[in-house]
Amino acid sequence: MNIITKLAIAASLATALTSVSLAQDLQGKVIGFSQIGSESGWRAAETSVTKQQAADRGIDLKFADAQQKQENQIKAIRGFIAQGVDAIMVAPVVATGWDDVLTEAKEAEIPVILLDRGVDAPEDLYLTSVASDQVKEGRVAGEWLVAEIGDADCKVVELQGTVGSTPAINRKQGFEEAIAGHDNITIARSQTGDFTRSKGKEVMEGFIKAENGGADICAVYAHNDDMAVGAIQAIKDAGLKPGTDIKVVSIDAVPDIFAAMAAGEANATVELTPNMAGPAFDALSAYLADGTAPEKFIITESKLYTPADNPQGEYDTRKGLGY
Ligand code: AHR
Repeated sequence: MNIITKLAIAASLATALTSVSLAQDLQGKVIGFSQIGSESGWRAAETSVTKQQAADRGIDLKFADAQQKQENQIKAIRGFIAQGVDAIMVAPVVATGWDDVLTEAKEAEIPVILLDRGVDAPEDLYLTSVASDQVKEGRVAGEWLVAEIGDADCKVVELQGTVGSTPAINRKQGFEEAIAGHDNITIARSQTGDFTRSKGKEVMEGFIKAENGGADICAVYAHNDDMAVGAIQAIKDAGLKPGTDIKVVSIDAVPDIFAAMAAGEANATVELTPNMAGPAFDALSAYLADGTAPEKFIITESKLYTPADNPQGEYDTRKGLGY
C-alpha cells in the first residue's frame, strides 16, 4: 500500500471525493518544488508525500533539493521561473530574504505557494501558505509540561530549530508563552540543534556537562522529534533515564518518537502533518480553474500525543509513510 493510499484511509470520504474531482484539474501542469533538504524524518516524509500527491494528480513535479541553503532555493526558483512552470511551491529554510525572488515570480505571473514555513515578505507575493500554527505547537508543548510538572521546580533545556526559520522562532515563542507565570519552570539553556538528530545529540551532551552531569535538568524541549531522539541518546550515554530522569517533549510525531515513547523514553510530541502538498494542490487547482483565491493561511492541525495514545500503534501506523 503506498503512502497516499494509507493517508487516504485516514481522511474523510468527503475530502477524498473532493481531491479526486480536483485531481484532474492539475493533470499535465508543471510545478516546481524547492525543498529545504532532508534534515529530519519529518522532512523526508513531506518530500515523499508531495511526490506521491503530484504523481496521483498527473502533475509534472520539478523537485529541487536545496541542501539547507537559501541561495540554492533562490537559484531553483529562478530556474523554475525561466522554465515557465505553472506554479512554484517552496518550503523556505529561513524567514527573511525572499522579497526579490518572489517579486520576480509575481512579475512572471507564476503563483507561489509556501509549504510548512513562513516568510517575512508582503503577503501579495504568494498565493497561500500551507503550514501549522507554529506558535500553537510550542504552546501545546509548554502547556503539557506545566501540567506534568505541577508545582515542582523544573529547569528546562531547549533545542531550537534552524536559526532564522519560522518554526524555530514561533515554537520558542509559544513555549515561553505557556510557561510564563509559572516561576517554578525556567529555561536554563537554549541553543540550536538545526533540526538534526546529530546536532541535537551534540548540543544535549553540552547541556548535560554544564548542568551537573544532567542531574539539574528536569526536561528537554526540542523543536522537532529528530533533535529529541538525539537528546535521548545523549541522556542514555550519560547514564540517565530519558523520559524519567529527564522528561522529553518535542514536535512532529514521527515514528521514531513513538518508538521512544513506547519504550518509556519520550513523554510528549505535537503532530505536524507531512501532507502539506494535498491542501496546496487543492488550493492551486481551484485558483487555476476560475481564479478562486484561497485563504492566505491554510492551517494544519497540532495534536498532542502522550504515552496514553497508544505509541506502539502510532509507530506501526506511521512507519511506512515515508519517514
Ligand atoms: O518546518 C517544519 C520543521 O522542519 C519540522 O518540524 C522539522 O522536523 C523540519 O526540519
